[in-house]
Amino acid sequence: MKKFFSVEDVPNIFDLVKEAIFLKKNPYGIQHIGKNKTIGLVFFNPSLRTRISCQKAAFNLGCNIWVLNINNDTWKIEMNDGNVMKTTQEHLKEAISVMSMYCDILAVRTFPNLIDKDYDYKEVLFKKILNYSKIPVINMESATLHPLQSLADVMTIAEYTSFFKKKCKVVLSWAPHIKPLPHSVANSFSQWISKIEQIDFIITCPKEYHLHKKFYNGIYINNQNKAFINADFIYAKNWSSYLDYGKVLCHDYDWMITKKKMKLTNQAKFMHCLPVRRNIVVEDAVLDSKNSIVLQQAENRIYASQIIFKKIIQSLL
Ligand code: CP
Repeated sequence: MKKFFSVEDVPNIFDLVKEAIFLKKNPYGIQHIGKNKTIGLVFFNPSLRTRISCQKAAFNLGCNIWVLNINNDTWKIEMNDGNVMKTTQEHLKEAISVMSMYCDILAVRTFPNLIDKDYDYKEVLFKKILNYSKIPVINMESATLHPLQSLADVMTIAEYTSFFKKKCKVVLSWAPHIKPLPHSVANSFSQWISKIEQIDFIITCPKEYHLHKKFYNGIYINNQNKAFINADFIYAKNWSSYLDYGKVLCHDYDWMITKKKMKLTNQAKFMHCLPVRRNIVVEDAVLDSKNSIVLQQAENRIYASQIIFKKIIQSLL
């Protein structure tokens, strides 16, 4: 594997998930492969899970690691080309080129502006980074995708279904929020999960919240209660509108995931990528229930990162 930007970089999801679950059983078994290898983590946006799970994954593989928060820890970075840099101090081109000389793998989190649909959906910033970097780049969440999260999510579902042995119903449910959020988790999850034929996958959301067809071209059910019937997994997430780009169009807090709605399901497991706003996105009673597997998802972020680091390091040897 030469880069990890999306599911398209994965030759076989099943093999990857199997290997990640195997690695979880013996995370320190291949520490020799990281000897003299350095991973750089670059954050243009805040993070708790991605940052620390990637650090842990690198330590498990015996790698060195450094972490950089853009703008807080660095010169103010200029992202655009051709600007007279009166208010910025260093161009992305030099910054990424230099950083890529200080490590063997660069993992980067960018962000969407949620204003310019074309800029975000063409992944202009991430593509510049791929272009300027002299080494393999990993997507730690870009404007439209969050593939490390999706790999951890699929791993978690695999663990709860004895590796998709029986057919199951997975529902991605839009949930309310107070501010516009990126589409990356919803896009990526839909893209990954749609590739697993044992999974009956649907999205429930208000009609203004349909995702870009490139990431999901399946069934939408606007009636959340109906969608929940017989579900085995409920994945809750807020995202802003794609069609009316970046807008919050639904302020209906009845979309919150509640205990009452979970009763419609087949004792479904509750999933969320975290961070989550309690009692806006999901009721305490659901998040604190024994069916909530959000912490297992978060734990699997370590092994999702570790398997990707391993694959990329092996391609360097
Ligand atoms: N789920 C996730 O990516 O969490 P962080 O934003 O804290 O990294």
